[in-house]
Amino acid sequence: MTTPARRLALYIHWPFCRAKCPYCDFNSHVAAEIDHTRFADAYRRELEYMAQAYGAGRRLDSIFFGGGTPSLMPAWLVEGIIADADRLFGLAPDIEITAEANPTSAEAETFTGFRAAGVNRLSLGVQSLRDEALAFLGREHSAQEALAALRTAKQTFDRLSIDLIYARQDQQLADWTGELQMALDLGLDHMSLYQLTIEPGTGFYTRARRGDILTADDGLAADMYAETNRLMRAAGLPAYEISNHARPGFECRHNMIYWQAEDWIGIGPGAHGRISNGTNRTGTATRRSPSGWLDAVEAGGHAVETLIEDGPGDAVAERLMMGLRLSDGIDMLALEAAYGDRSRLIDMSAYDQLVEAGLLTADPDRLCVTEGGRLLLNQVTSALLARLG
Ligand SMILES: C[S@@+](CC[C@H](N)C(=O)[O-])C[C@H]1O[C@@H](n2cnc3c(N)ncnc32)[C@H](O)[C@@H]1O
Ligand code: SF4
Repeated sequence: MTTPARRLALYIHWPFCRAKCPYCDFNSHVAAEIDHTRFADAYRRELEYMAQAYGAGRRLDSIFFGGGTPSLMPAWLVEGIIADADRLFGLAPDIEITAEANPTSAEAETFTGFRAAGVNRLSLGVQSLRDEALAFLGREHSAQEALAALRTAKQTFDRLSIDLIYARQDQQLADWTGELQMALDLGLDHMSLYQLTIEPGTGFYTRARRGDILTADDGLAADMYAETNRLMRAAGLPAYEISNHARPGFECRHNMIYWQAEDWIGIGPGAHGRISNGTNRTGTATRRSPSGWLDAVEAGGHAVETLIEDGPGDAVAERLMMGLRLSDGIDMLALEAAYGDRSRLIDMSAYDQLVEAGLLTADPDRLCVTEGGRLLLNQVTSALLARLG
């Protein structure tokens, strides 16, 4: 059997949190009671369905437990899903298995159980190392608690990442660079650094509509972004994606599979998947509501409610949108080998203008935005795609 060139990943969505953060629009819910046995059975059934529909002969390169707050899952549930994934697909010997975790002390106690279950990478939602910012963000943990959780996580996992949110209300450039330096002093190999965004449907969105200023203004946010990139590069963790920084070799394999438009299966409430079929691509999305998802899986073995069949045009558009987020951009020779000459894939006159304007690099083998281009990514992508629309 020949091994398919595209890697395959599995995403599992755990939709529950202890409390809802006012900035967050992820599919996350606070529930008084959770029937873990029902969820375990439903994950198994949906995974069996996906393996049969999309997994033929393929091994998993990555598993990612995302949320919500997966660190609230009992370790036996995580272990059961990994065992089912092994039985149904097989796991690559060097598989990356990530779980997102919140840094409260209760959750830190579960890290050993997660490690024993097979998780080998932890993504810890520290968000800030300053107590007043954590209060502003509505987080349940203090900076001390985050640092304690981080110490436990370091002892437990070889690969560890933290999330921080910046460009917050009242934050000045020096506040942020000071906080970032504190984070760098922790000696991690991977950090996700997000600018605070105001998302419809969140508590912050309601406040912003009432006139509260919750984020830094655009000019300051752009300065913070530039300074972040400079400091991270100098520390040996350059950006490999807009918001993601790693020491070379420590990039998140799972997210690289998304950004390089490879294949992944998504299970759990509101999970998305993408599976290639030659130059076409199938997209799946499951029912978002946790109880609706459970009912649908129990009734029919899966809760896929949106199924998209993309032809080559849409598949290329997605490759461009995802790949341009990466610092290395897109391998144009591979793209042409799969989909044909570049003059049919992108708007070449827009390309020339963007190179001229310094927003794309001049390397003909890679389609790649410059640091300036990254700040205008949506416009750059739309200009390149105009011809396909
Ligand atoms: C699914 S959440 C992380 C999981 C975990 N429950 C936590 O809160 O730590 C993924 C990450 O997205 C980031 N995030 C969520 N909403 C955001 C927003 N509106 N602006 C910036 N970053 C955001 C946070 O850094 C968060 O850690
Ligand atoms: S940021 Fe994390 S803990 Fe907060 S609501 Fe979103 S998923 Fe839950």
